[in-house]
Amino acid sequence: MGDTIMDEHDIEKYFKPDLRQARKRTRNTSERIDFLLDEKDQNIGSNRTFFIHTYGCQANEADSEIMAGILNALGFAQASSESESDLIILNTCAIRENAENRIWGELGRLKAYKRHNPDLILALAGCMPQEEYVVERVLKKYPHVDIIFGTHNIHRLPDYIRTALFSKEKVVEVYSEEGAIVESVPKLRAHAYKAWVHIMYGCDEFCTYCIVPYTRGKERSRAREDILSEVRELKNQGYREVTLLGQNVNAYGKDFKDVDYTFGDLLNDLDRIGIDRIRFATSHPHDLDRKTMEAMRDGKHVMPYFHLPVQSGSDKILKKMNRHYTSKEYLDVLGQLKETVPGISVTTDIIVGFPGETEQDFEDTMDLVKQARFEGAFTFIYSKREGTPAAKYPDETREEEKKRRLQRLNELVNELYLAGSKRFEEKTVKVLVEGYSKHGEDMMIGYTEHNKLVNFKGNKSLIGKMIDVRITKAMTWYLMGEIV
Ligand code: SAH
Ligand code: SF4
Ligand code: F3S
Repeated sequence: MGDTIMDEHDIEKYFKPDLRQARKRTRNTSERIDFLLDEKDQNIGSNRTFFIHTYGCQANEADSEIMAGILNALGFAQASSESESDLIILNTCAIRENAENRIWGELGRLKAYKRHNPDLILALAGCMPQEEYVVERVLKKYPHVDIIFGTHNIHRLPDYIRTALFSKEKVVEVYSEEGAIVESVPKLRAHAYKAWVHIMYGCDEFCTYCIVPYTRGKERSRAREDILSEVRELKNQGYREVTLLGQNVNAYGKDFKDVDYTFGDLLNDLDRIGIDRIRFATSHPHDLDRKTMEAMRDGKHVMPYFHLPVQSGSDKILKKMNRHYTSKEYLDVLGQLKETVPGISVTTDIIVGFPGETEQDFEDTMDLVKQARFEGAFTFIYSKREGTPAAKYPDETREEEKKRRLQRLNELVNELYLAGSKRFEEKTVKVLVEGYSKHGEDMMIGYTEHNKLVNFKGNKSLIGKMIDVRITKAMTWYLMGEIV
């Protein structure tokens, strides 16, 4: 291995990301490799500390645990605050403009920081560096950033750190195309009782508004045995809950050649391991099949909660979004799901103000939300992402109008949220205790099987335990309860 990154790779190809290249999809099955740490790197971080800021979705949270695991293996210790750390990583999100604006602000703030501590290493990681314009802007305007890498090369972190520490060179390495699936990566998990488990990477859906297929590459599934052994090990270590991660978990296994093994099969196998709770995120309605629903119904440990993004209730808009379903098809799938898994709690994601959305299209969304009776929703105003097809669609709706739609939608969503919580009043539910509540010294919080947040009186000896709680009152965002 050479000492600098530039020796090893074709600069032309790897220096900066290329969104057109990132859009390409091949039929090749991804190679599987094991992460190996070079002996000479094992102590390069000793007497040094790191701090990671994580933005965006659960995939990023899980990736940050891998970065932390690798840094730990290099000898770095995790700092409790950024002010006392020698290395700061921003693991970024590119999903909407406001997510990116936060990062630009952070980069500005950290500049002043670096003036006080010139030895501080600053790294930009995650989805933003996968965008061409971001890398260019950082190189031009934020020269205090030492390392830039993307979502496909986290396993190369030891090389980047070594270069930044010893050669004092700037490292810029972003792959536009996904590489191998890397197994045996060390992880420093953020929680002691619940764990993220990637089951697949990437997305092939290409919803016209979305940057993720470009920043995360093509869909590729981890091998069944790798996932099963990770979950078995977690159970042995005392973990009580796993959340299976993928941009579209229902596409799991579709990239396997000559093997018929899909998400429902995986759920069945994982259920047999006997870890208390299995959750997953997120799903595309188009790929949700009967096998998955039946695995939820039959599994003892698969939680009765489903996040099923709908995005819009207008067929015209759904088509322009490239979502592959109509509002009726969505409601049909949802109906089947509720019939198969009685009492299931369903939440969703909705975008308002997509280019060309009329008042009537928005009313169609309101109607669908009423019919679906979602128990929660993440709602967003459409944000233009350069490089995606929708960025070129004419958009005539005024910003104030979009805000008004969002507000109306949120009022409806909040009503349904409360109704979904009220159904648990006077019922006794199972809660996995997570920690202290912000509602007072002796108040604790945890989540129910239906993924509802509960506040109750208790103490820290309960953390990590599964307890019975009787719900006394439903508030909009959480439940109040008493230990039975
Ligand atoms: N793969 C996940 C979504 C990840 S992004 C899924 O399909 O379920 C999370 C949510 O962000 C999406 O569901 C969508 O509602 C929203 N989103 C994505 N791109 C957006 C954009 N350009 N503007 C506004 N919201 C967007
Ligand atoms: Fe984005 Fe659509 Fe893929 Fe979800 S399914 S990540 S919204 S392209
Ligand atoms: Fe954001 Fe990347 Fe996740 S864009 S939502 S961090 S996949």
